[in-house]
Amino acid sequence: MALVDDRLPDIAMPFDPPADRRNPYDDYARCREETPVVVRDMPGLGTIAWVYRYEDVIETLQNYERFSNSAARVFLGPALGEGLLVGYDPPEHGHLRKLVSPAFTPAALARLKEEVVRKTVVELLDEMAVAADPDLVSDLAFILPAKVISRMLGLPESDFETFRDLAMEIILIAAEPETAMKAAERLRGYLHDIMAERRKQPQEDVISSLVEAKVDGDVLSDEQIISFILTLLPAGIETTYRTLGNLCSKLLLEDMWGELVADPTLIRASIEEILRFEAPLQVVFRTVVNDTQVAGVELKAGTFVIPVLGSANHDMAANPDPGEFDLRRNGRKITTFGSGLHTCLGMFLAKQELQVVMEELVARFPSMRFATGKGVREDAQPRGLMVRSPRAIRVILGN
Ligand code: HEM
Repeated sequence: MALVDDRLPDIAMPFDPPADRRNPYDDYARCREETPVVVRDMPGLGTIAWVYRYEDVIETLQNYERFSNSAARVFLGPALGEGLLVGYDPPEHGHLRKLVSPAFTPAALARLKEEVVRKTVVELLDEMAVAADPDLVSDLAFILPAKVISRMLGLPESDFETFRDLAMEIILIAAEPETAMKAAERLRGYLHDIMAERRKQPQEDVISSLVEAKVDGDVLSDEQIISFILTLLPAGIETTYRTLGNLCSKLLLEDMWGELVADPTLIRASIEEILRFEAPLQVVFRTVVNDTQVAGVELKAGTFVIPVLGSANHDMAANPDPGEFDLRRNGRKITTFGSGLHTCLGMFLAKQELQVVMEELVARFPSMRFATGKGVREDAQPRGLMVRSPRAIRVILGN
């Protein structure tokens, strides 16, 4: 996992020497101040414009008439397929989103909270409690979102290992496209069979609800359903596991675990603050529709635009003292889940998972602390410029 992270493109910062993978925030601050939009010709990719200020990032995310989402289909379509929700603009996007949304409403998620999310968390903590050398990344964060999605989809428990391995290979899409494409093909075949079963005999699961979804008489095609499910893997697993790692590491590194133990009502704020402080996905993609300007910089039609979410969240104009990890912050402006029409569909699910896992961790392991040994704190430092999270968080769970 760590090796793959090290091979991911440094797509949030186009500079040479590259920005500090451990802390890109000082470089982002310099960009916001001096060069809020950086334009470069990138071999094989064309012209790319990086956008660093909060206000400009919000504009590129929200104004779909100026900034199209088609770039996502260019990069992800070959592996994830035609129904890639995030790759469409209106009106196709709205139609597709209406069809897949019912599975992600707060009411639908409330039903999952105890039976799926807490049950999964408790099982994983039971296993971690007896592990010889527990690591919150590989023993918990890395497994939880994959297991929750597999249970939401209603996949047989016996298939979980295969599903998880294929899902993880799909997540490698930015670093190893060929591996991701092969895994997507295998998963397609597997999901086809499950869908055929659900058409015959619907269950209480997301695949059944996608098979039955209808808007204005339209239903989803098999390809659209499969492509949507494939999208959930990088969208829902990678982001959530990285956020859980980022939160646990920050609380331990800053000696703040005890604060949450003493007052678990702070858990919610800790989740909101880590989402602001360390966006697990630092960038998204857009394409300029017609020649335009951002922050006074001319951008030609067809230019790829990279709104840097991690920079926007640290813009003083949006959040005062952005470098402070402050649980008692008075409101937050964050771009971590995007903004506008494409705002993350899984936002409530992600927050629910994070809330439940933190409640259980704090209640069960109140004296959790770093393991002793070389490199433990170093490995727990979040790193990365496209995605960010720690490599490992080795801990002592009990007294
Ligand atoms: C901390 C966790 C998460 C983060 C930070 C995150 C981040 C994002 C961002 C930034 C976007 C917008 C992309 C764009 O504008 O181009 C997005 C969209 C999306 N996310 Fe998430 N996500 C998270 C969890 C999840 C989960 C758990 C799921 C589902 C299981 C999910 C499913 C989606 C989908 C389907 C979209 C596309 C929405 C659309 O285009 O209308 N995400 N996410």
